[in-house]
Amino acid sequence: MNDFVKLAVHGVQALQPYQPGKPIDELEREYGLTGIVKLASNENPLGPGHRVTEAIQNNLKELTRYPDGNGFDLKQALVNKYSNITIDNITLGNGSNDVLEMIARAFVSERDSVIYSEHAFAVYPIVTQAIGATAVVTPAKDWGHDLDAMLAVVTDNTKLVFIANPNNPTGTWLNTQTLQHFLESLPEHVIVVLDEAYFEFASHPDYGVKDYPDGLALLKQFDNLIVTRTFSKAYGLAGLRVGYAIASPQITNILNRVRQPFNVNSLALKAAEVALLDEAYLNASVQLNYEQMKVIEEGLQALNLSFIPSIGNFVCFKVADANVCYENLLKAGIIVRPVGNYRMQDYLRVSIGTSEENQRFLSALKKAI
Ligand SMILES: Cc1ncc(COP(=O)(O)O)c(C=O)c1O
Repeated sequence: MNDFVKLAVHGVQALQPYQPGKPIDELEREYGLTGIVKLASNENPLGPGHRVTEAIQNNLKELTRYPDGNGFDLKQALVNKYSNITIDNITLGNGSNDVLEMIARAFVSERDSVIYSEHAFAVYPIVTQAIGATAVVTPAKDWGHDLDAMLAVVTDNTKLVFIANPNNPTGTWLNTQTLQHFLESLPEHVIVVLDEAYFEFASHPDYGVKDYPDGLALLKQFDNLIVTRTFSKAYGLAGLRVGYAIASPQITNILNRVRQPFNVNSLALKAAEVALLDEAYLNASVQLNYEQMKVIEEGLQALNLSFIPSIGNFVCFKVADANVCYENLLKAGIIVRPVGNYRMQDYLRVSIGTSEENQRFLSALKKAI
C-alpha cells in the first residue's frame, strides 16, 4: 500500500491538523450530557444579532446564485465605517484564517523564512509549514511577542512576520510605541501581518485599553503592513466565516490573485454588511466582555489561580494539572480549551461567556482543580 504521507509535500508531512475547541454535540454524544456551556473558541456568547438573522432570512432566495465574487457591498460598508481606506485596500476572506493563508501563499516560497512568536496563534505555523517555508519562532517575553527578538532574527530570507495583537491564546498585547518602533526598524522587504482579530474588544473607547494601536492608522506610514480583522469575534459571526485584510492596493491586488473565486458566501457577505451597521450589538458585545472578564478574573483570584492578563475575549489560567482539570470540567458540562499545543502545558484557556455561563464555569472550576 502507498504511504501517502511520503507523497505529501515536505512541510505538510510534519504538520498536525488545527485542534478546534470541542464541539457541544460531541460532548453530548460522548458523555450523554445536556445544557453544555462552551467557552472554548472565543465565540460571541450573545448569539447573532436580530438584524443579522433577519437579513439572512431575507436573502435565502439568492442561494441559487453565486455570491458577488468581489464582495462589493461589504467592501463599501467597510469603506463607510473606516476613514482613509478604499475598496482597493480590502481583501475578503472565508474567515481571517483564509486571508492569513492567502498572504502566505502569495508571498512566501520554500526558500523564505517566516517569523512568529512562541505561543502565537496556531494558524501561523500551519500556513508557514504548508508551504515548506522555514519557521523562525522567537521566544516569548512575559508570554507576549518580543519584538526585539523578532528584529534580531530578520535576514535577507525573511519574507513575513506574523504579529497577533492581542495574541491568542495568551491575550498579551503590544502598545503603539513598541509596534511603531518595530515597524520603523524592519527592512522594507519584510511584510508584516498585524492580526487584529480581537480589535473591537481591545480598542473600544469605553472598554478598551490605553495605547492600543490601530493598525489601520499605521498603514499610512508602512506600505509593507497588512492588517487582518474578522467578523467572528465581537460581531458574532464565527459560523459564517468572514474576515478581511486591509493593505496597500498593490498588496491587495496580489492577494486577490490567489483568492478562490466566491470565497465568501452570499449569506455571509450580507450578514457581515448588516453586522457592521449594528453598533448597538457591537457595543453590547464589548461591554459584556469587559464586565465579565472582571468577573472571571475575580473568580480565578478567589480560587488562588494565576492568569495571564488579557485584552481579548478569553483568558489563560494556570492549574496544577491541566488535563485533569479539563476532563473534570468536561464531566461538569463545561468546555474550555487546553493549550498544551501552544507549549502552555499548565494552562487552560476560557472564553468569556454570559454572566450565567461564567458562573457555571467558576463553580465547576472550584471542584475541577
Ligand atoms: C489571533 C487570531 N487570528 C485569527 C483568527 C481567525 O479567526 P477567523 O478565521 O474566524 O476570522 C483567530 C480565531 O480564533 C485568532 O484568535
